[in-house]
Amino acid sequence: MTKLAIIGGTGLTQLSELTIIKREKIDTPYGPPSSEFVTGVLNQKEVVFLARHGNPHTIAPHKINYRANIWGLKQLGVEQIIAVAAVGGITSAMTPRHIAIPDQIIDYSHSRKQTFFEDENYPVTHIDFTYPYNPALRAALITAAANANIAISPIGTYGCTQGPRLESTAEIKRMEQDGCDVVGMTGMPEAALAKELGIDYAAISVVANWAAGKTEGEITMAEIEQHLHIGMVNVATVLKSFLAL
Ligand code: HPA
Repeated sequence: MTKLAIIGGTGLTQLSELTIIKREKIDTPYGPPSSEFVTGVLNQKEVVFLARHGNPHTIAPHKINYRANIWGLKQLGVEQIIAVAAVGGITSAMTPRHIAIPDQIIDYSHSRKQTFFEDENYPVTHIDFTYPYNPALRAALITAAANANIAISPIGTYGCTQGPRLESTAEIKRMEQDGCDVVGMTGMPEAALAKELGIDYAAISVVANWAAGKTEGEITMAEIEQHLHIGMVNVATVLKSFLAL
């Protein structure tokens, strides 16, 4: 059976229905991962869970040790990652609580450690990134959502900003012109690092708020938390449906 990991983001610090088998701290050449790796059983399938921002949630998006996280998962033999992440909605279908399975990504982040291939241990390597998200894994997630009767957007472009602040209205306008449907802060370099290590990677984006300038007024954390709380119920349903495929 393919070994699966779920990386949980804001609003998903733990998988409440996971029957935990073990918790492992893994040391990596890149330093400590965000949290322990929790192996458990969900829907009779073994799953490794990692809290991207730590548990409790203390690590800001630009401070996450993405390399340690992906390296640790590889050490555990993980072959597939489903990455759950909160996003802001930019295009009209991306209303709060909606779920998208993005198929493309634009990276606006900077100053992050973006590759494993940068020291004397590795030759310079340029991975192909034409399809940043694994098409087969995406297709399975889309089927899982359909089986669970949850309406999702089966494609979309994820724009990754540096954070931790949210964006300005002009930044969101520019991102929309670039073709972004949703905006988040953690999609990169996570997707690229997984690809570098040959791990299939797909994402579930959960819309927490309209992106800056898409509604009157400012974005509040209370609004984000409220939408995520409900959005994550649907995410859990999609995940369980995926495990039943
Ligand atoms: N921008 C960036 N990241 C986010 C947002 C947003 O509006 N909402 C949730 N994560």
